Amino acid sequence: MKNIILLGPPGAGKGTQADLICELCNIPKISTGDMLREAVASGSDFGKKVSNILDTGGLVSDEIIGELIKNRLTQSDCINGSLFDGVPRTLGQAAELKNMGINFTHVIEIQVDDEVIVRRMSGRRVHPGSGKNYHIDFNPPQIEGKDDETGEPLIQREDDKPETVLKRLAVYHDQTKPLSDFYSNQALESNLKYITVDGSQSVDDVFNLISSQI
Ligand code: AP5
Repeated sequence: MKNIILLGPPGAGKGTQADLICELCNIPKISTGDMLREAVASGSDFGKKVSNILDTGGLVSDEIIGELIKNRLTQSDCINGSLFDGVPRTLGQAAELKNMGINFTHVIEIQVDDEVIVRRMSGRRVHPGSGKNYHIDFNPPQIEGKDDETGEPLIQREDDKPETVLKRLAVYHDQTKPLSDFYSNQALESNLKYITVDGSQSVDDVFNLISSQI
């Protein structure tokens, strides 16, 4: 059983590595970012409620995230563990996940400097259907502008505009970065394994570093 948290700033490569780790460990990806974007795309009342928060780079409330996770964990594919991509993002969410009784086995922190992040975000392209990430220079699709699997068009995310990226980075340093200390301290007194990787290397090199430690 593996329950893995992927921590790191926006654009660190969490989504990219999450897909690879899930395949390796045969566990599902639980990405609150993907779930929220799906809700926005569906046009539901819930999607309308969170749409502006996503577009402007703020955080959705801990209560909403708690409900999303609780519901997701009732699905049978989580039986052998899950990969938590971009959640928890606040100390409140970490407490909530603890209360749900999830026994985390690994926390992987992908570290990347802010300047690299800004460059990466401007080149990111996403397949809306699957959430698969590409980069026009560092991780390009086989055919420009098209998803490798379906051939459907790739889009640029609304929150990848430069001013929104800076806001997301500020929110990360203020609200999410404290989770590094929270989980590394927990690792000192439990079986939890805390892994840090330099995310400024190539996608393959980052994955090799991660896979050798999980
Ligand atoms: P979310 O979707 O989780 O966004 P994020 O954490 O800001 O992370 P990103 O998806 O932007 O980046 P990533 O680290 O996954 O990097 P990626 O692999 O794409 O959340 C979006 C919004 O939803 C939040 O702002 C918030 O509003 C809300 N939200 C979500 N979860 C929430 C929560 N728990 N609580 C409250 N609110 C929540 O890579 C980036 C680019 O770089 C890609 O183009 C990729 O191809 C490229 N790349 C990846 N790795 C490399 C590499 N090693 N070298 C070169 N390029 C690379």
